[in-house]
Amino acid sequence: MIIKNIGRLVGIVPEGVLRKEGPAQGETGTLENAWLRVEDGHIAAFGPMATCPSVDGEKAVDAGGGMLMPGFCDSHTHVVYAGSRDGEFLDKINGLSYEEIAARGGGILNSSDLLHRTSEEDLYRQSMVRVQEMMEKGTVALEIKSGYGLNPADELKMLRVIRRIGRSVPATVRSTFLGAHAVGRGYTHEAYVQTVIDLLPEAARWADFVDVFCDEGFFTVEDTARILEAAEGLLVPKIHANELAVSGGVQVGVRYGALSVDHLERTTDAEIEALKGSATMPTMLPGSSFFLGLPYGRAKDYIKAGLGVALASDYNPGSSPSGDMRFVMAQGCIKMRLTPVEAFNAVTLNSAYAMGLSQELGSITVGKKAALILTRPGWDLTKIAYQYQTPFIQQVIL
Ligand code: NIG
Ligand code: FE
Repeated sequence: MIIKNIGRLVGIVPEGVLRKEGPAQGETGTLENAWLRVEDGHIAAFGPMATCPSVDGEKAVDAGGGMLMPGFCDSHTHVVYAGSRDGEFLDKINGLSYEEIAARGGGILNSSDLLHRTSEEDLYRQSMVRVQEMMEKGTVALEIKSGYGLNPADELKMLRVIRRIGRSVPATVRSTFLGAHAVGRGYTHEAYVQTVIDLLPEAARWADFVDVFCDEGFFTVEDTARILEAAEGLLVPKIHANELAVSGGVQVGVRYGALSVDHLERTTDAEIEALKGSATMPTMLPGSSFFLGLPYGRAKDYIKAGLGVALASDYNPGSSPSGDMRFVMAQGCIKMRLTPVEAFNAVTLNSAYAMGLSQELGSITVGKKAALILTRPGWDLTKIAYQYQTPFIQQVIL
């Protein structure tokens, strides 16, 4: 397939660049009036229209002057869940905090009860509706976590559903074992941490990553270290850190070679220092800040310190019931004061890095998967973030 008359090709990155850090986060390669060829689902070549090859029998797509960009990569989601938590929405409106709702039996345990009562088939069907919607909105790769099972059988049920989703959609799916999301019903804290540890070898057959909700009222730095210690050689960590408090989650994540540390609504300079020189991608989830009324992450300070930043949706029923990565990008600009290019890199290459996929996704690079968004004519990165609700997608190419 060849795509012709591309008004602007955006997100061109040389082979081997796996993330954008510091000043580089504000830069991306661009080509005006371009063509791009796809072979076997991968980007085979691209160039200026003046050099557009004509090959007989090739399917041609006329972009009509639209912009072509890599699709969104969403490195942090909880889209496999049962039912909804709209029952808690009124409590939230009436002023109860995330912690207060959880303390009343709402929150993660509420989702866990619902999931327990939902068949695997039904869980798959409900989750697929969300993944389908995300793909229509331009998401071409996503990470999905377990963490609403909270006992071995239900955690594995979630991991099987995640694998099945990955096999049934054209988007690339990565899977994370988040047994340590909350203490499951009927367990003491200590017994539950041990249950998570005991489950690691089996979980590693299904998942790519291990995650711990290292935060006030959930799991401590010591719990996290024990779980990550046991996971060494089995699963690479991605950590929930610093959402509700300055938790120490960043430091313990970096210590165990986490691929990403996520949330970071509450960070001090110590977290930024800890991340310098590491392979860990700080990942912020503005959808949770928006929905829960939390501070937005200090993305700009991370970039000033020479680090890269990824943004993801955190799509889940309790703190971010949306998987709209365009809205995430817009919030990156509007609320976190990222430039449109910084926000774009945060939702493409850097978020691909944060799920170990930036060798194959996240930029316009020969050899990478053709997982692309073709915009309507007249759109550019600034307008996508600025005019943040007007439909801009002409076609998602997957
Ligand atoms: O990333 N913070 C922990 N986990 C999710 C929320 C899960 C839920 O409330 O269902 C999050 O925000
Ligand atoms: Fe999360």
